[in-house]
Formats: sequence, C-alpha cells, structure tokens
Amino acid sequence: MKKFKILPYAALFSVFLLAGTMAAFAQENIEIVHDAAFENQTRPPVAFAHDAHNEKAGIDDCGECHHAYADGEKQMGDDSVGMECSQCHYGKPGQGVADLIRAYHLQCAGCHGERKAGPVLCGECHRRR
Ligand code: HEC
Ligand code: HEC
Ligand code: HEC
Ligand code: HEC
Repeated sequence: MKKFKILPYAALFSVFLLAGTMAAFAQENIEIVHDAAFENQTRPPVAFAHDAHNEKAGIDDCGECHHAYADGEKQMGDDSVGMECSQCHYGKPGQGVADLIRAYHLQCAGCHGERKAGPVLCGECHRRR
C-alpha cells in the first residue's frame, strides 16, 4: 500500500521541478548568462542580472542586444528576443566557438568600454562565488 501513497507526491514534485525550469527561462530571473552552446565552460559563470542591469544602464531597446539584421543592416525597431546568441553566432559553416565568445565579448565589454561604465576585466564578469 505504501508505494501508492508516494506516487502523488512524486507527481507533484515533478510539477514543481518543471515550473522551476520554466521560470529559469523567463528573463526576469536571469542572474547569469548561460548560452546552451557552451558545454564545458572554462570560466566561472558570467554575472548578469538581466532586468536590473538594463534598468541601471538605461537600455530601453531590447534590440540593442537581441538585434535583428537584414541584408547586413541592423533593423531598428525589430529584435530577436527569445533567441540565444548562439542560434546566429555559432554553428554556421566557418563559425566556431571562438566566434560566439567574440560576439559576447564585443557586445558586453564593447558597450562598457564605450560608455566607460560596467566591467571590462575578465574576473569582473566571470566571477568566482
Ligand atoms: C544588455 C543586453 C540585453 C538587453 C538590453 C536585453 N537582453 Fe534579454 N538577454 C540578454 C542575454 C545575454 C540573455 C541570456 C542569453 C543566454 O543565456 O542564452 C538574455 C535572455 C533573455 C530572455 C530569455 C530567453 C533567451 O533568449 O535566452 C528573454 C525572454 C529576454 N532576454 C528578453 C528581453 C527583452 C524583452 C528585452 C527588452 C525589454 C531584453 N531581453 C533586453 C541580453 C539582453
Ligand atoms: C537572429 C540572428 C542573431 C541573433 C539572435 C544575434 N545576432 Fe548578433 N549579429 C547577427 C548578424 C546577422 C550580424 C551582422 C553580421 C555579423 O557580424 O555576423 C550580427 C552582429 C553582431 C555583432 C557585431 C556588430 C555589433 O553589433 O557590434 C556582435 C558583437 C553581435 N552580433 C553579438 C550578439 C549577441 C551578444 C547576441 C545575443 C544577445 C546576438 N548577437 C544575437 C545576427 C544575430
Ligand atoms: C548597451 C550597453 C551595454 C551592454 C550591451 C551591456 N552592458 Fe553591462 N553595463 C552597462 C552600463 C552602462 C553599466 C553600468 C551601470 C551602472 O551601474 O550605472 C553596466 C554594468 C554591468 C555590470 C555591473 C553590475 C550591474 O549589473 O550593474 C555587469 C556585471 C555587466 N554590466 C555585465 C554585462 C554583460 C554580461 C553583458 C553582455 C551580456 C552586458 N553587461 C552588456 C552597459 C551595457
Ligand atoms: C563584460 C563581461 C565579460 C568580460 C569582461 C569577459 N567576458 Fe568572457 N564571456 C562573457 C559572456 C557573457 C560569455 C558567454 C558565457 C555563457 O554563455 O555562459 C563569455 C564567455 C567566455 C568564454 C567561453 C565560455 C567558457 O567559460 O569557457 C571564455 C573562455 C571567456 N569568456 C574568457 C574570457 C577572458 C579570458 C576574459 C578577459 C580577457 C573575459 N572572458 C572577459 C562576458 C565577459
């Protein structure tokens, strides 16, 4: 009999697990960047409190990072929200993981350098905790 009592709890628990996983994909809970294309990371995870960061930095346009291009031109007023950077910057012929790393570094550290605000040193983004 005991066995059958556990089952409903197991089912309930897996619902919580699922909800937790889905919540992790909502941008309001993002605390680190984790692009699925990186399998074995050599550096500590990159600190990035998505919404708080963008508010502090005063970035209103999602397309500033989640950009959309057509014929090599950046499309103002359009974006690629919901796609990982690696969906465009990794895995196409001639593209390696170095291209994806470069894309992140150029976008993140590039803006920090331009605005003279935000971290530019390895250990400030790849924070050990
Ligand atoms: C400063 C750059 C930046 C800005 C501005 C930005 N995002 Fe993001 N966003 C990211 C990064 C980086 C990730 C994490 C990508 C990963 O881990 O694969 C992300 C992840 C997300 C995700 C999770 C799903 C996914 O694509 O992995 C959603 C949804 C999202 N952003 C929506 C938005 C919306 C809506 C806005 C505008 C209100 C916005 N973002 C503005 C950089 C940005
Ligand atoms: C829908 C496809 C797509 C997505 C998603 C995408 N990009 Fe791009 N990105 C492009 C294209 C196309 C170009 C222009 C051609 C090129 O340089 O590869 C570009 C250019 C760039 C550049 C060089 C120009 C610049 O803006 O400084 C950087 C850096 C970059 N992307 C970083 C990122 C990052 C980081 C993400 C995720 C937050 C991202 N991209 C998401 C398609 C995409
Ligand atoms: C368009 C400009 C821009 C882009 C793109 C950008 N940042 Fe920033 N970031 C800023 C500015 C401005 C600040 C300083 C905000 C302040 O504290 O006043 C900042 C601050 C930070 C900080 C300090 C703590 C915090 O959250 O405020 C971290 C960490 C950070 N950025 C990580 C990232 C990462 C990782 C990416 C790429 C996924 C990124 N940033 C992309 C503009 C940008
Ligand atoms: C402005 C923030 C920022 C700075 C500064 C920065 N990185 Fe990164 N780096 C990133 C982001 C964002 C990614 C993508 C991480 C992910 O998706 O998990 C990344 C990815 C990487 C990766 C591939 C993933 C891994 O862990 O193996 C390496 C290697 C790396 N960075 C090394 C460096 C080195 C070395 C420096 C200093 C020269 C540096 N980074 C500085 C933001 C930064």
